[in-house]
Amino acid sequence: MKLAVAGKGGSGKTSISGTMARLLARSGHRVLAIDGDSNPNLALTLGIPPEQMSDLPTLTRDLLDRTPEGARLAKTLEEICATHSVKAPDGVTLLVMAHPQHAGAG
Ligand SMILES: Nc1ncnc2c1ncn2[C@@H]1O[C@H](COP(=O)(O)OP(=O)(O)OP(=O)(O)O)[C@@H](O)[C@H]1O
Ligand SMILES: [Mg+2]
Repeated sequence: MKLAVAGKGGSGKTSISGTMARLLARSGHRVLAIDGDSNPNLALTLGIPPEQMSDLPTLTRDLLDRTPEGARLAKTLEEICATHSVKAPDGVTLLVMAHPQHAGAG
């Protein structure tokens, strides 16, 4: 089962995603959570302490091969998880797409 949560800013997307991920993992499901937000905070909702957040590995662009036919992963999901994921409490595996590098203007 794949679930994508999108919607208006501040409407509870991260809270609902984190809670669902933790409940599903607690009930024995294998859960891979992917935080695609450019200002990620799903880790916090999943129970990862704030001081570990800046150490979280992020996904790199070279994981995607772009061809005229489309895009595909350059590695298997297992290979990506082995190097780019962290385990959160309750057994959720988390992949983070990006960290903010610096504050922008405006
Ligand atoms: N059911 C709820 N009842 C009360 N407050 C809630 C509820 N769900 C989320 N919140 C609070 O609302 C705020 C926004 O929630 P959250 O960060 O999950 O939203 P979001 O859609 O992920 O926001 P963003 O668009 O900024 O990523 C947070 O302070 C959160 O604690
Ligand atoms: Mg959010």
